Amino acid sequence: MSCRRFTERVAVISGSAHGIGRACAERFAAEGADVALLDQDETANREVAAICRGHGVAALQLACDVRDSGAVEDAMARAIAAFGRIDALINSAGIYAGQCIEEVSDAAWRELLATNLDGTFYCCRAAIPAMRTQGGSIINISSMAARAGFTATAQYSASKSGQIGLTRSLAVELGPDRITANTICPGNTRTRMLDQVAQRVGPRFNMSPDEWLQSRQQACPLRRFAEPREIAGVAAFLASEDARYITGQAIQVDGGMELR
Ligand SMILES: NC(=O)c1ccc[n+]([C@@H]2O[C@H](COP(=O)([O-])OP(=O)(O)OC[C@H]3O[C@@H](n4cnc5c(N)ncnc54)[C@H](O)[C@@H]3O)[C@@H](O)[C@H]2O)c1
Repeated sequence: MSCRRFTERVAVISGSAHGIGRACAERFAAEGADVALLDQDETANREVAAICRGHGVAALQLACDVRDSGAVEDAMARAIAAFGRIDALINSAGIYAGQCIEEVSDAAWRELLATNLDGTFYCCRAAIPAMRTQGGSIINISSMAARAGFTATAQYSASKSGQIGLTRSLAVELGPDRITANTICPGNTRTRMLDQVAQRVGPRFNMSPDEWLQSRQQACPLRRFAEPREIAGVAAFLASEDARYITGQAIQVDGGMELR
């Protein structure tokens, strides 16, 4: 990576141990940012922190369940104590359930909303006071499921639409302090979550997980899934100087799926 746009900048990333969050951690570190990595999977998060340090930056690994507002406040306080500032917040921690609506218990609904939406809220609320000092970028990882409907996806879609509404209002509220807030809405992206979706949704269409994955690729105008680094590249752009006038947007990174 020749371009180091984030030297002397600090990025906080939730869900950094796997998938899109991990790709964001590696991309921001490769571009010179010190990174604070929030995830509940401590073992995998430790490996990601080591990879980030290999880019010559500081990486703080923070065990944190984003459903727990106190744990998020503690983690963010530790990041600020270590680095003194937060320039970019990327919220990628998330889960998928794959249940049809009658199967969704109160507890399952709450767990998914608590992770995907409450967690995004807690991380934003805890990071914003530090971001107001010098301005910054909030990037919430939503989904194409925020704007399109899918079988066995209602509670996930609700959480992802909620992230867009949250982000649009943050953009208005925080704009005067030079903080931008945007969502990225990825299409199917090659992570372990996509494998979970295939296992849970495929059989509902009488397909094996592999058959369902094939059908999803055929349904995409680009005939392939996104790689996590392609989502991370958009997050890095949104945190860069080139994107200072972009705020309140939900940016579809879906290979054209929304056109179908
Ligand atoms: N993979 C896709 O096809 C896809 C598509 C659209 C949107 N997304 C969104 O992208 C984001 C990242 O998903 P991914 O595909 O990388 O999944 P992933 O399962 O690979 O990674 C999710 C990460 O979030 C962490 N996490 C989950 N619950 C947590 C909690 N309570 N506290 C802290 N960390 C927690 C996990 O440990 C993991 O590191 C999610 O918000 C997801 O909804 C994914």
